[in-house]
Amino acid sequence: MSLPTTQKKYTLESAATPERPKAFKITYHSSAPFPTLPTPTSVLVNVKALALSARDLQIVKGEYPAPHAVHPGTVPVGSGAGEIVAVGPEVKGYTVGDRVILMGMPGHHFQPDLPQSSLERSRGGGTDGTAQEYIPMEYEDLLLAPSHLDWIELAGLCGSSVTSWVHLWGHQPLLPGSTVLCLGTGGVSMYAAQFALVSGSSVIITSSSDEKLAKVKKILEKLLIPGSSKDAIRTINYNTTPEWDVEVRKMTGGRGVDNVIEVGGWGTCAKSVRSVRKGGIVGVSGYLSTYHEVPMELKMEDLSKLILYSAANVRGIFVGNRTQAEQMLRFVDRAGLRPVVSEVYDFADLPKAYEAMEKASHIGKVVVRVSA
Ligand SMILES: NC(=O)c1ccc[n+]([C@@H]2O[C@H](COP(=O)([O-])OP(=O)(O)OC[C@H]3O[C@@H](n4cnc5c(N)ncnc54)[C@H](OP(=O)(O)O)[C@@H]3O)[C@@H](O)[C@H]2O)c1
Repeated sequence: MSLPTTQKKYTLESAATPERPKAFKITYHSSAPFPTLPTPTSVLVNVKALALSARDLQIVKGEYPAPHAVHPGTVPVGSGAGEIVAVGPEVKGYTVGDRVILMGMPGHHFQPDLPQSSLERSRGGGTDGTAQEYIPMEYEDLLLAPSHLDWIELAGLCGSSVTSWVHLWGHQPLLPGSTVLCLGTGGVSMYAAQFALVSGSSVIITSSSDEKLAKVKKILEKLLIPGSSKDAIRTINYNTTPEWDVEVRKMTGGRGVDNVIEVGGWGTCAKSVRSVRKGGIVGVSGYLSTYHEVPMELKMEDLSKLILYSAANVRGIFVGNRTQAEQMLRFVDRAGLRPVVSEVYDFADLPKAYEAMEKASHIGKVVVRVSA
């Protein structure tokens, strides 16, 4: 296979203002230099598709509180999937033509918690990401892709999905018959809802939009085990039912849910703790409400008392390691699961994909085709 001599890519260039000193604009390059293999253990991947996450948008807006610098010239976007087109002489277990998913945190292979060195090299921020046609990677930072999924579906299958896996099975494994509360209809929550349903649990999904809830219900109903209870998928509009924690308690006969996928942060955390059963888990992986007006009464909540009296297990969740990603992929493969992708853009329209993330018009993932 003959490889080109240049490639298309985007980079992050400073768009700092006094109000937003860390903001970036994304700049397109039509004939950037073609990458070489930096080490004998690296491979070159032709990126077929990438998926945006909330973090990618936060980086561009200069709102990502990463404990490392994001330097101008870095290629954006953390997730993607592609085909291996060249392998170094010391690469083991991978060959040209393999379909692979790219790990977003290089070197996070088995440690239970994310090492600082991996965080500092996080793809699309600490180190170059997937908004380029060809990316060199260490072979140990690749995962073989399940064969039943196309490039669009594979693009977002690392990152949010591993986080969802860790939410449900990383610390206190989810028992079948449990109830999981998924906040919103974004990437992390949709993967968690799919994983929970397929493994025999029920879900309660919240959203700001009845239209999204109706769509989500239709997508998820296909995953129900035949004969499942009608209550296996329940929904709450958190705008029209601002006391959604009270509603969750009602729905669970006063007991509370077993596990909360807490991605809202300040605006939702107290309600999530109120929604969980005694000894249940509130996994905190996001803080989306930080970017909206949070009512004063929520800011003033005494979380420590709430946590104490609910005996909730509140745990920060920061992605997952390679071993957990492999477990998750085996599950996706066995169950024939298909990631929820609601919007797909061409590479030339990457800025439009960012706009879609900002409007939060999507359900599940926003994906961009990179190479044919
Ligand atoms: N810790 C980790 O390892 C990890 C990994 C991935 C992502 N994250 C974080 O987790 C969060 C979710 O990421 P994502 O990629 O799933 O984001 P996303 O796809 O951008 O999710 C957006 C959706 O979240 C929902 N949402 C926003 N504010 C909400 C609120 N106050 N209450 C309930 N739902 C709300 C909205 O759903 P509706 O439109 O339906 O209302 C929105 O469409 C982000 O903060 C991200 O940074 C963390």
